[in-house]
Amino acid sequence: MCGIIAYKGWKDASKVVLDGLKALEYRGYDSWGIATGSEVVKRVGRIGESGNVVISPSSIAIGHTRWSTHGPVTWQNAHPHLDCSGRVAVVHNGIVENYQELKASLSSHRFASDTDSETVSHLIEEKLSIGFEQAIKEAAKLLKGRSAFVAKYENRLAAARKGAPLIVGIGRDEFFIASDISAFFNHTKNVQYLDDNELVIIDEAAHFYSIDSGEKVSKRVVEIDWQPESAEKGSYEHYLIKEIMDQKETLYKAINQDESKIMSVAADINNAYGTFLVGCGTAGKVCMAAEYLFSKVARKHVNSYVASEFPNYSHYLTPKSLIIAVSQSGETADVLEAIDAAKKSGSKVISLLNVFGSTMMRASDQYFMVNAGAERAVVSTKATTAQLAVVTLLAYASIGKLQEGKLLLLNVAEQVNDMLNPRYEEHIKKLAEMLKERSDMYIIGRGINYPMALEAAIKLQETACINAQGFAAGELKHGPLALIDEGTPCIALVANDSVKAEMISNAMEIKARGGFIIGIAPENNEAFDYWLKVPDAGNASPIVNIIPVQMLAYHLALLKGLNPDYPRNLAKAVTVK
Ligand code: AGP
Repeated sequence: MCGIIAYKGWKDASKVVLDGLKALEYRGYDSWGIATGSEVVKRVGRIGESGNVVISPSSIAIGHTRWSTHGPVTWQNAHPHLDCSGRVAVVHNGIVENYQELKASLSSHRFASDTDSETVSHLIEEKLSIGFEQAIKEAAKLLKGRSAFVAKYENRLAAARKGAPLIVGIGRDEFFIASDISAFFNHTKNVQYLDDNELVIIDEAAHFYSIDSGEKVSKRVVEIDWQPESAEKGSYEHYLIKEIMDQKETLYKAINQDESKIMSVAADINNAYGTFLVGCGTAGKVCMAAEYLFSKVARKHVNSYVASEFPNYSHYLTPKSLIIAVSQSGETADVLEAIDAAKKSGSKVISLLNVFGSTMMRASDQYFMVNAGAERAVVSTKATTAQLAVVTLLAYASIGKLQEGKLLLLNVAEQVNDMLNPRYEEHIKKLAEMLKERSDMYIIGRGINYPMALEAAIKLQETACINAQGFAAGELKHGPLALIDEGTPCIALVANDSVKAEMISNAMEIKARGGFIIGIAPENNEAFDYWLKVPDAGNASPIVNIIPVQMLAYHLALLKGLNPDYPRNLAKAVTVK
């Protein structure tokens, strides 16, 4: 995780870097820091909350926004990390897996932090007698694990990429290095992509080398033909509620895709000897929903996997296997590892993404955008429903019924538009008020709504810090029912489908034991103590059933005094394994 930005040029580097850090905050917000030609400023907390930061102008600076891996959230552990002399400053993203071994070899050095990252600055210092460029080459070679770093020394910058993204921006007599284009997009659209196992040294020009061979690598300057979407909160208090409301439009954008592209992915699915959908967290639940949808709609089995576990199953992949990687950010390390595993077997990889220009876009054979627009809240909402819409389209397209799928979804998009009104929100606020003291909550679903029960649990955990657990409704009696007590809130995700009667029976079983049943369903039922009406959406019920939970999680967070946009301990893009 963590966001990195560096600048060298004629503008005020400290300002360029501070602005860049704000754009990179989605990668982590435990602490931030900047090193210029003359000072190092570090703070615990979000840069967005640091108020007016005054740093003397400089022509060179590196900056970092941290998501902690090694060492707690403290000023000492905030980057940049310096060498013993204070001349080398380093910002680092990812993990140095062999840091203990490296640290042991640097026993004469004074370490000021608990981080793995600090080994990089001392490693460079250790080799500095052979020159900065050579020291960077040697240090980069020694690092194990998925990471990237930028080092500053005198008026030079150097950066190395070993599995974590870095991109070089080229302006007029100025250079940028960042984890992602959004950090410097306002300054230049000309970039040079640093590939894995490459490093760059920037003096008066940018020189690229292979880390393995040390040989020079020639790089093309690519002009990015893309405008980052502005993501303003507008009149909303938080990104999260704004993005929940955005679903009035984003569903249409996800549905109205280039039909030939959908048909081509559907054909790939039909031709593959095994389709594997991989994703993490919420995106992983979308993969699971896809497995149900393909079975139900297309009578076809596709496999869904939690991306971090996928490499453990990759033994049976062949060049005829198809991997569909689902990711909002396109930067998730576990998904990138899954893609690597698939590529090693020669399998084809198609990514369903929401962020243009992401690492996954370049790592895949093909990509497909879900068009949800910039999603800023760490908690995924509109990207999730857009992903759900796209996998639903694919299921229908795979049996030549794309128009039927589109019609269903367009109807659902219209219903969502009606549903997201202030009266509905009031009804949810009332429920949040009733539940605000509860620390545990359970969510049940069957069939295509079982993955949504798991997703609902993620929403409540990360947004409202509630110990929420999702279950296949039929599983409750095999153990979790023992947890139900007088008033225990339990959300039942119901659809008008073949498993509705069983869902109601399971809700009744919980109610009989004192549970408080919140029914999310098209019709009310005597099993429900509180009913949240949703449209009757047929095979698209996962989309309509998850939206009230998103809203409930938001209002619970507000009542609990939590910031719904920045859940503790999390980051928007999870770039470590
Ligand atoms: C979503 O609300 C979560 N914050 C998280 O589970 C997220 O979905 C997961 O980290 C995957 O991210 P990605 O879609 O960017 O790959």
